[in-house]
Amino acid sequence: MEELSAICLKDICKQYRVGFWGRKFVALDRLSLEVKKGEVLGYLGPNGSGKTTTFKVMLDLVRPDKGQLLYFGEKTSIDSRRKIGFLPENPYFYMYLTAAESLDFYGRLKGMGRQERKTRIEELLELVGLQHARGRTLRKFSRGMLQRLGIAQAMINDPEIMILDEPMSGLDPVGRKRMRDIILSCRKRGKTIIFSSHILSDVEVLCDRAAIIKKGRLQGVFNVGEMLDDKVESWEITCTTIPDDKQIAKYIVHQSNNRTLLRVGEEQEAKRIIFTIENNGGRVVSFSPHRTNLEEYFKDNSDNS
Ligand SMILES: Nc1ncnc2c1ncn2[C@@H]1O[C@H](COP(=O)(O)OP(=O)(O)OP(=O)(O)O)[C@@H](O)[C@H]1O
Ligand SMILES: [Mg+2]
Repeated sequence: MEELSAICLKDICKQYRVGFWGRKFVALDRLSLEVKKGEVLGYLGPNGSGKTTTFKVMLDLVRPDKGQLLYFGEKTSIDSRRKIGFLPENPYFYMYLTAAESLDFYGRLKGMGRQERKTRIEELLELVGLQHARGRTLRKFSRGMLQRLGIAQAMINDPEIMILDEPMSGLDPVGRKRMRDIILSCRKRGKTIIFSSHILSDVEVLCDRAAIIKKGRLQGVFNVGEMLDDKVESWEITCTTIPDDKQIAKYIVHQSNNRTLLRVGEEQEAKRIIFTIENNGGRVVSFSPHRTNLEEYFKDNSDNS
């Protein structure tokens, strides 16, 4: 028997009325999307394409004009909604509560008992790296700290499904890595996660599949490996020392005191250049594909729509 999807949107249409004359604006156009049980699905799209609206529909916060929403094959109910954790795009908190008080508040909203909340709050503060700030009021938190608290509140009752709207926004590199690790550890524990992002590398590391939306219409759901392999446009080599060689010099795009960046079109040629550099006393510190950026990817896809 085919496994049930955790979330299933069927033919969702949503129009907003905008401006003085209440003109109709199509935010979601016959959108059908499945989030499979246990998968991490990346949701990509330019600003204003309908990602947050999709999440609001998934959470039953916005009523679609048409279409159907199912959790594990069934219509939504208060009970099924309890299984969902949500990190909003701009999490809103009571700024005069401390981090621990705030999580306690969300735990109570989810109907958790006192002892359960106490244990869970300590676990989560440690997981997101906020133990040191547990007693600090949130108005003294930085943007990144609030984002971490946001993911902690989304996980307060250990939900089956997590919907994360731009989880990486506002985070520094350490915070991003931590957020990635949190998502990966949830995935390992069999949780279902959908998250939106503009950053292709986050999707590459975390997801098996990615859905792309543009102007309220789903462009497709892609296997992430295939999507990225298609889009390598050149290869970048970074070296600390580089031999004086004309063949190599023509690929240099940037040079600073102790780093040289080369960009080579073909993978085989790039490997040949690395070989030459290393055999002539140079030192290569990184070799990575340089990919078409996301906007170009959207542009390419829109031609099919
Ligand atoms: N309450 C609303 N009333 C009217 N229009 C709205 C409303 N909410 C969203 N929209 C419009 O719907 C479109 C989709 O918005 P949405 O917030 O879903 O985009 P998004 O993909 O999340 O964008 P971003 O990447 O900037 O977060 C936008 O054009 C937005 O202006
Ligand atoms: Mg949004």
